Amino acid sequence: MQMSHGSKAVIAEISAGLLSPAAHTSPKFLYDGLGSKLFEAICELPEYYPTRTEASIFAAHGAAMARAIGDGSVLIDLGAGNCAKAASLFPLLRPAQYVPVDISRDFLVGAVAQLQQRFPQIEMTALGLDFSNGFALPDSVRAGRRVFFYPGSSIGNFSPAQAVDFLRGLRANAGADGGLLIGVDLIKDHTVLDAAYDDALGVTAAFNLNMLRHLNYLIGSDFDVEQWKHVAFFEAEHGRIEMHLEARRALTVRWPGGERRFERGERIHTEDSYKYTRQSFVSLLERAGFATNHVWTDADNWFAVIHARVI
Ligand code: TRP
Repeated sequence: MQMSHGSKAVIAEISAGLLSPAAHTSPKFLYDGLGSKLFEAICELPEYYPTRTEASIFAAHGAAMARAIGDGSVLIDLGAGNCAKAASLFPLLRPAQYVPVDISRDFLVGAVAQLQQRFPQIEMTALGLDFSNGFALPDSVRAGRRVFFYPGSSIGNFSPAQAVDFLRGLRANAGADGGLLIGVDLIKDHTVLDAAYDDALGVTAAFNLNMLRHLNYLIGSDFDVEQWKHVAFFEAEHGRIEMHLEARRALTVRWPGGERRFERGERIHTEDSYKYTRQSFVSLLERAGFATNHVWTDADNWFAVIHARVI
């Protein structure tokens, strides 16, 4: 049996997911060192249109977004990573304070140090926290006009009910004149959606399968990557891409304190990616207490960037 490196809580969370009748894992375990690099590679793939399409919308409409938002805001960047998306908007948005938030504070601190050199007039406050389960902002975040920046259609990785709860949490932290600039992937031709999550080079497959290696590290399990295959498809009834790992044959996975038998074809559900229509997302925002101010899209209507204000 191998060694486990995860905390007790992480080990308990993963085991519970693997042992449940419909096995599942949290998508956060996709992102170890290699996983993060593979996701960066996915964003370069011709099939993975979201990153590219959103960037083109920012490039075409950044000035209009800045006019809608106004300068001197407190820009709170959720899942900031290398901070590049927000930084590309700084010259137009001219925020008074920039607050990148990400699980890994160490990574943020490095990115922010570089950014601060380029934009000395913007106050920068890096926050290392997991905002996915609700959060309260510390006093170091100014009380001014707070605008949450949530690009990349990461909102799609929540179920619609969770998304409403999450957005309500943002609203509670935004203050009366706060707002939201959010990227949302739109429902489109299913072959385009399917290809974006199952590319010809197999990078997305590698990204999904890499989770098994990460689980082996975290809980000391003996997943053999070669026994599993990546399965991703658009499920029209729920309007979501489902990502799974499927056992190629009957097998048993063992780890210190547990084991799980999988039949051939049985799956572990790793992530959902909900897609919206423009109308369905505007009404979701409304349920969360936000009024849509403006929607920008690309020429094909594949992706939307929405500015909304607290109602
Ligand atoms: N958040 C990304 C998305 O929904 C994650 C992602 C892209 C993903 N491709 C994947 C997750 C494949 C699992 C498997 O678009």
